[in-house]
Amino acid sequence: MITDTHCHLTCDEIYSHIDETLENAKNADVDLMMIMCTNKTEYLRALDLKTKSPEHLKVAFGYYPGDAKEITKEDLEFLKAEALSGRMDVLGEIGLDYYWDTSFKDLQKELFKTQIEIANEAGLPISIHMREASRDTMDLLEQYAKTPVILHCFSGSEPIMEEALQHGMYISFAGPITYKNNKQGPINVKACPIDHLLSETDSPYLSPVPHRGHPNEPAFVADTVAKIAEFKDLDQDTLQQAIRQNFLTLLGKKASTPTQEEIADIQSFLATCDPSWKEIQLKEEAK
Ligand code: NI
Repeated sequence: MITDTHCHLTCDEIYSHIDETLENAKNADVDLMMIMCTNKTEYLRALDLKTKSPEHLKVAFGYYPGDAKEITKEDLEFLKAEALSGRMDVLGEIGLDYYWDTSFKDLQKELFKTQIEIANEAGLPISIHMREASRDTMDLLEQYAKTPVILHCFSGSEPIMEEALQHGMYISFAGPITYKNNKQGPINVKACPIDHLLSETDSPYLSPVPHRGHPNEPAFVADTVAKIAEFKDLDQDTLQQAIRQNFLTLLGKKASTPTQEEIADIQSFLATCDPSWKEIQLKEEAK
């Protein structure tokens, strides 16, 4: 019963061979995965996958900080409607990223705050992406977040982790903790209490050792969990059970599994209000 709390199963790179990916996960005993969706296409694909295996999949949807310049009022209205619909498990990943571009920090902050407020209103946990932006991210979370917080792929300093834990946030570790040159990762893993710790892949990115150089997939979360168990001197079963329990606890109430009719309704709604959506739909059908 291994848990991958963060995988981009419906991004183009993975979705093109999704059946094989899910089969590999099953064979590796990875039986609970949260699909992270960064746009409407990925979200619709995720809902569709969930109708086929609701007991193994959770769905998260939110707009990525790097996309802040492109996100429209209509995009946010759609996210809000879906957050309130009961179909989403988590809102995210959302946050701040100053690694690639610092020219639109204010826009990133505004998008982040708006999405935290949607999550508050819907009572949804949030999954946080922070890169080179720990201080600003923590400040906004401490000021606005009212629902459970997951710091995804945590690679910050120990003081930031301590601060996050004091606010009851969950710390999620990914492939980089298995890298030999990562000195901070093992320190963070050791210092993180087992009741606030999570495991993830962030696939298709950040493959753990020994899969570096290959695209990541949920099956590989087993290698990250094994490394966490080693650092914490725990047996893997105890650790896996704790992670599963942490994840289910923070999720709280279960999201509903959409019907095909609901998915068709969302499709036609999107086609009505967004002309470009028809193109996406046609591309999907042509596959
Ligand atoms: Ni991600």
